[in-house]
Amino acid sequence: MSTAGTRRIPLSAPWIDERDEELVLEVLRSGHLSLGPTGPRFEALLAETVGAAHCAAVSSGTAGLHLCMRLAGVGPGDEVITSPYSFVASANCALYEGATPVFADVQPHTYNLDPAAVEAALTDRTRAVMTVDIFGYPCELDELRAVCDRHGLVLVEDACEALGARYKGQLLGSHGHPAVFAFYPNKQMTTGEGGAVVTGSAEEHELLVSLRNQGRLETSSWLQHGRLGFNYRLDDLSAALGIGQLEKLDRILAGRREVAARYHELLAGLDLELPVADDADHERSWFVYVVAVPRGVDRDALIRRLGAQGIACAPYLPSIHLQPYMRELFGFAEGLCPVAEDASARTMAIPFHSRLPREDQERVAEALGAALAAA
Ligand SMILES: Cc1ncc(COP(=O)(O)O)c(C=O)c1O
Repeated sequence: MSTAGTRRIPLSAPWIDERDEELVLEVLRSGHLSLGPTGPRFEALLAETVGAAHCAAVSSGTAGLHLCMRLAGVGPGDEVITSPYSFVASANCALYEGATPVFADVQPHTYNLDPAAVEAALTDRTRAVMTVDIFGYPCELDELRAVCDRHGLVLVEDACEALGARYKGQLLGSHGHPAVFAFYPNKQMTTGEGGAVVTGSAEEHELLVSLRNQGRLETSSWLQHGRLGFNYRLDDLSAALGIGQLEKLDRILAGRREVAARYHELLAGLDLELPVADDADHERSWFVYVVAVPRGVDRDALIRRLGAQGIACAPYLPSIHLQPYMRELFGFAEGLCPVAEDASARTMAIPFHSRLPREDQERVAEALGAALAAA
């Protein structure tokens, strides 16, 4: 009996092959599990891949964002403008430093920060703008940089979902300002847990390397610490996996592009908003495939219905300012960012990864069509 109709289709899946295993095993056998030669090799390869001058690998994307707040000199009393339609880390990193996250609304369709809303959210306490390339679609970098330049603000880019994306033809991570990538297993490439901060500044890189390593200075011995730092290091086993992943990144990204193109075809006839297409300025790196249901359709019921058929979907993404702890801390409520809130009520991620089989995609499209018809 065929199990094709009942097999569970996961929301995401990493692409791990024998080469990855070999590289990790090599480090394991070397005994050099942290602060060995593999970390710098991974960093050099990643810097080359995204066209960055410098790269510091860290233990997670969140750790990278936190260190960028340190680079920006953000502290108590400061405000950091960010996107409400993102993963919580885009805002939490400001909170870690005692600063206040300020949410500017996003653009419809791209779900990225609206530069006009950022300008409107400025106060004399604004210190930095944390912009996000949500779902791998590049944000309006030039306009956001212009706002930052006009007002003397630091620009940090949360590119955690956007490895390999291009803005105006140029790879994200190569624009000079600090940008953060993340490598949790649902990302385009994975190191298990892990992340990286890239920057065009040697000075920023030096600070990052010290901060992630307990504040040690290049010149200090193991138990001497020049500043307050963290243990945000990436171990060598994770870095080895990262090298294997980078070696096949082109294939990973091409696979994801192909799967996305197939979904476009399969879902074209349904009453859904599909992900915004690339244009001359924006080339997406496919992270997730997110669709928006029409207003009035119970998105969560749809997700439950697909879940009951073994098709994993998720409400993606809730607005950060409406998370329970944010409401409690700042009194945020509905109406603060209407575009983001509307998106949060209607968007859902459907199964998506580099090697998702066509028959699984057909099953997802069929189930989604039936669920919409019944909604
Ligand atoms: C936009 C965004 N920012 C930050 C992060 C945090 O990355 P990590 O889970 O590696 O800490 C993620 C990943 O989940 C993300 O999607």
